[in-house]
Amino acid sequence: PRLRAEPKGRPWAALFIGRKTLMFKVPPLSAKRLAVLLCAMPKAELHIHIEGSLEPELIFALAQRNDVRLPYASVEALRSAYAFDNLQSFLDIYYAGASVLLHEQDFYDMARAYLARAAFDNVVHAEIFFDPQTHTARGVAIETVINGLHRACEDARSVHGISASLILCFLRHLSEADAFATLEQALPLQDKFIGVGLDSSEMGHPPEKFAQVFERCRALGLHLVAHAGEEGPPEYIWSALDVLKVERIDHGVQAVKDAALMQRLAKERIPLTVCPLSNQKLCVFPDLKNHNLRQLLDAGLCATVNSDDPAYFGGYINDNFTQVFAATGMTPRHAYQLASNSFEASFASEADKRQWQHRLKESFERFVEHDG
Ligand code: HPA
Ligand code: ZN
Repeated sequence: PRLRAEPKGRPWAALFIGRKTLMFKVPPLSAKRLAVLLCAMPKAELHIHIEGSLEPELIFALAQRNDVRLPYASVEALRSAYAFDNLQSFLDIYYAGASVLLHEQDFYDMARAYLARAAFDNVVHAEIFFDPQTHTARGVAIETVINGLHRACEDARSVHGISASLILCFLRHLSEADAFATLEQALPLQDKFIGVGLDSSEMGHPPEKFAQVFERCRALGLHLVAHAGEEGPPEYIWSALDVLKVERIDHGVQAVKDAALMQRLAKERIPLTVCPLSNQKLCVFPDLKNHNLRQLLDAGLCATVNSDDPAYFGGYINDNFTQVFAATGMTPRHAYQLASNSFEASFASEADKRQWQHRLKESFERFVEHDG
């Protein structure tokens, strides 16, 4: 479904679901009521690194359980180190935090905690990134990683009614040969992940460095995504699309620097998984009020809101929604569009997508009735 810009002065949203046009009034909402709506609406989360959901308390609990020494004296000392200048300064601490993960149960507990928290934010579907190389480099078997995460995803379905799947990310600061070796190790477990992505240090590691391994993944029928245009230039978004042939761009906020790219992203409805608090904490924008999410939406792009690394960036998905709306003055129409985009952009079945879109519409109608 797509929303057309509101006719001036008429606060209703026109929704196009299939060929049907549905209209309902969205009255002007106070900031407080809008925040309630943002939290209550069903949504999908498509950009969350599971290692970035490790809260300092869980890092310390796992360090103790596994007898791992941390270079921080306490939970507070670790949390106070969470002040970043850019992507790399974050990654250094993020990889240190992941060093406490050794056993299948550790990966299970981490994903269980995230999925419970996501369900609390009315996430009905999550596509979760994981970084196997961060763990295999420390001698942890890839089966340990994938089996623990996958079991948590399965259990979340029965416990929270949330659907969850996994996307294996290659670390772009390592070589393509290393990515190929990781893929080979993962292939016996191919039924436990739905796609591959590309993350870690962006500058100096353009998408085309991974052209061949992505081509192989495409032949295997895996879904393809890549981080591009977080700190890197619009050229990295072009090559993620044209060389890697990805279906979604993670971040992608630098696209606004290139008008032709903006037109293509809008025309092809190529989703961007945007992470406002991450962009603020890694100084991609000087302040949240300078974030370009509204500009991306108003240009017709399929932008979504996500948490990236919620334990490190000061908030889960609903915090991202409420803070970026408060900072940029977006409206209930933008809220509907973002939730709808998250389902459209997901790799779920068409039947699931239809059901979630229906639930979204109902949640807005119910909210508007209570408000009217
Ligand atoms: N960018 C790149 N790599 C990452 C990120 C990110 O935002 N989070 C975790 N790994
Ligand atoms: Zn990310």
